Amino acid sequence: MNSVLLASNRGPVSFTVSDDGVLTMKRGGGGLVSGLSGVAGEEGVLWVCAALSDGDRGAARQAPGGRLDHAGYETGAVRMLDIAPTTFHRAYNSVANSTLWFVNHLLYDIPNAPHFGTRFRRDWESYRDYNGAFALALAEEAGHGARVMVQDYHLTLTPAMLRAERPDLRIAHFSHTPWAPPEYFSLLPDAVAGEVLEGVLGADHAGFLTRRWAGAFMDCCETMLGAAIDRQAGTITYEGRTTRVGVHALGVDGKALWARAGEPDVESHMAAIREQVGDRRLIVRIDRTELSKNIVRGLLAYKEFLDAHPEWHGRVVHLAFAYPSRHDLPEYREYTAAVQRCAQEIEDEYATDDWNPLILNVDDDYPRSLAAYRLADVLLVNPIRDGMNLVAKEGPILSPRCALVLSREAGACAELGAHALVVNPYDVTGTAEALHAALVMPEPERARRRERLEAAATALPPHRWLAAQLDALGTP
Ligand code: G6P
Repeated sequence: MNSVLLASNRGPVSFTVSDDGVLTMKRGGGGLVSGLSGVAGEEGVLWVCAALSDGDRGAARQAPGGRLDHAGYETGAVRMLDIAPTTFHRAYNSVANSTLWFVNHLLYDIPNAPHFGTRFRRDWESYRDYNGAFALALAEEAGHGARVMVQDYHLTLTPAMLRAERPDLRIAHFSHTPWAPPEYFSLLPDAVAGEVLEGVLGADHAGFLTRRWAGAFMDCCETMLGAAIDRQAGTITYEGRTTRVGVHALGVDGKALWARAGEPDVESHMAAIREQVGDRRLIVRIDRTELSKNIVRGLLAYKEFLDAHPEWHGRVVHLAFAYPSRHDLPEYREYTAAVQRCAQEIEDEYATDDWNPLILNVDDDYPRSLAAYRLADVLLVNPIRDGMNLVAKEGPILSPRCALVLSREAGACAELGAHALVVNPYDVTGTAEALHAALVMPEPERARRRERLEAAATALPPHRWLAAQLDALGTP
């Protein structure tokens, strides 16, 4: 039986299936997977995740008991849950991504959304079922007294459900997102908001990326559940049980990142980029095409920068890599189109025969992203709101001379803000000015800041981040 279990919607790998039924495996994306991948594969650790696509379902069905490692995949111990597609779709797209993600990132266009009608109630049932499927699998797989690390907003109900099944287990929940303040969280129907909070409080330890998000969670528990909060001690007491709240600022394993970034495929992408842009300065951004990442305002800021600084025409290129994400949601498809339109406008206005001011790529290419980091002079990270943002941490590790323009609403700003150029993500002109300041930053200052950014970015690498949370649950 397993002594440590990880549970998350997205697992370490995903599969695509070709027309003739051949499965191809690739690494999963996003901050959560980057954080956990380092520990997967260790002795006694099992990762339970959901099948997200037809390819994943195919792989999960072929694997005995859903165990990908038992089917010969080199994933470490992974059990992929084959949840009915309709249940999965309602839980993942409608509740997790269109509701809980929107609430915690403050993304609603309030006069028009959300609408919590009967359809939402139906979807909420699916979210419960989906959380229940995880609780059941974890209850089956966990050894006596095992430690279970439940991840993120997809699985807020699982801790309480699992505790009801297996009171012997020690359970942690970790939020990789921000948490909304009570006045925004209370957009959710009261019963739903209560269930989410009580679900997380089913854990012994509730973890967050920054003090700010932990504080917002405590505020919600106090305001909406009437729970007793001890902010000094970091505890929440509700219905006779106490949950500890911890802040664990996930960082990057610099050595492992360098090991990957030094590989030949990355080097050849570097050569290709250099071929394309010559010796021009590079402003780089790398994101999922995600509403919260604020890509359109980032492009508008670059446009304002070009308007204000003709002396940079022909001397700078913006590499914007926005890889596809959550395309089952219409808002995301529209957002991708808006990003493309905005990029086209910049090209139409400024491109010359021998200078392309902007290279936008909307396909996924991990080695190419690593190559871009290595070449960056400026890294732009300007989310509306973000749990942490690992791009802000990875860039300064890989780029020898990158200056960081960073949104004050990114969790990473708590650790990196002192050494970055901090911007209000809504302030397009302010962001344009910061891009200019980053480009003209003198070399010694650049080097000093980059060094400090790197130190902060690597302070809590994934294995220590997870170890701290396991310690918080006590030793076996
Ligand atoms: C964020 C979330 C993760 C999620 C990732 C990618 O980092 O906190 O839970 O896995 O985005 O999103 P996706 O919907 O593609 O899994």
